[in-house]
Amino acid sequence: MAKVKTAFYCQNCGAQYAKWQGQCNSCKQWNTIAEEVIQKPQKNDWKSNSSTTSQRTSKPLRINEIDVTQEARLNMQDTEFNRVLGGGMVPGSLTLLGGEPGIGKSTLLLQIALQLPYKTLYVSGEESQKQIKMRAERVDPNSENCFILTETKTQNIFKQVEDLEPDIVVIDSIQTLHSDYIESSAGSISQIKECTTELIKFAKETATPVLLIGHITKDGHIAGPKILEHMVDTVLQFEGDRNHVFRILRAHKNRFGSTNELGIYEMLGSGLRQVSNPSEILISEKDGELSGNAISATLEGMRPLMIEVQALVSTAVYGTPQRSATGFNAKRLNMLLAVLEKRAGFRLGAKDVFLNITGGISVDDPAIDLAVVAAILSSNEDVPISSDFCFAAEVGLSGEVRPVQRVDQRIQEAEKLGFSTIFVSKYNKISLKNSSIKVQLITKVEDLTSFLI
Ligand code: TYD
Ligand code: MG
Repeated sequence: MAKVKTAFYCQNCGAQYAKWQGQCNSCKQWNTIAEEVIQKPQKNDWKSNSSTTSQRTSKPLRINEIDVTQEARLNMQDTEFNRVLGGGMVPGSLTLLGGEPGIGKSTLLLQIALQLPYKTLYVSGEESQKQIKMRAERVDPNSENCFILTETKTQNIFKQVEDLEPDIVVIDSIQTLHSDYIESSAGSISQIKECTTELIKFAKETATPVLLIGHITKDGHIAGPKILEHMVDTVLQFEGDRNHVFRILRAHKNRFGSTNELGIYEMLGSGLRQVSNPSEILISEKDGELSGNAISATLEGMRPLMIEVQALVSTAVYGTPQRSATGFNAKRLNMLLAVLEKRAGFRLGAKDVFLNITGGISVDDPAIDLAVVAAILSSNEDVPISSDFCFAAEVGLSGEVRPVQRVDQRIQEAEKLGFSTIFVSKYNKISLKNSSIKVQLITKVEDLTSFLI
């Protein structure tokens, strides 16, 4: 009997070893290395009866001789999804959608599959056909073109694909698939690698786009080997706070478009709704003005987004004051507090400071700094900031207000949404002319106080 071939893989990063060891050399994690059986049969093709295709050789072509007319993208009937993909799906591409459990990955792809005018095969290894139908009924049950298959073995999936000849294949999820050619269990590194390779081969040879759902690990990376992300053409991330209704779709890698684009959805009882004007919903409606709220003109990717920052400053009850931030980097909050204490003379050392970005999204655009500072000052003095004001600037360690990129776009968005004044750095080069919004230039955080308090 042939000897069973095994190898050792780190379950965290996918590094391969010949022998077991306690710590992974590449990611330094302990006890993550496990033995997996690898057995390669001779024929390792998505279509096991057509070995001729894999022997086809390609010839070098001049770049201007390459015909791209057949590369017309498929319209996914979803503006947000199309935008993130860079204008629709490219035939033969592999797209991986990652996200936390329960964030709505299955809902998003099922909903898209139901809307498509093309023949779509939705393969699920996680739910039964009845469960999917129940979910589909919440979304939109009337679709002639959507086929549901519950299967986890890749060879069986390819058999069904050959009969059905779908235009798009959706796989939910890559971690549930297993291939006969590898003996280790579904979800293991070698299985994920093998199944993805088979799917890539299938996609490239038939020009069928494949959408994969991928689980993520507890630190937010897509579960499985890092190589998975290298193998696919596009990696999308679906994120948002599960307790909030908004979901953000962004591209981490895109071979066919920019990774700066962003799609926003709202989770409703009837599925996901596309949000075409995000700024309006991120700013909470309220009667009267409350202290501690400030609005920032941020950019998420290429899209301007008005985000509300809320701060609460109160006297510390215990010895060590608490600092807590949701949706904003806690270290950056501490830095801004230190700047306010040292440069602007605010005694915040003995105060609890809580900061929250509304809508459950997290922001890393530095332009939000000034709004954070304004919200803290407003809460500290208990003086509301006019709801017609918004902010877009970074704050430096010496208390200087620094310029931010694409300020014109932020000003335009603020103007469009009816703000009367936007606070930006004096050092920003503003090329906009005759805008109706007042652009207030400031140089230091201390200057802000005279406008607000
Ligand atoms: P799901 O797509 O199953 O998440 P994932 O595949 O990423 O694990 O989403 C499940 C959540 O979405 C669930 O908590 C309920 C919610 N949901 C709605 O709020 N409305 C709906 O119409 C649907 C289908 C789900
Ligand atoms: Mg799911």
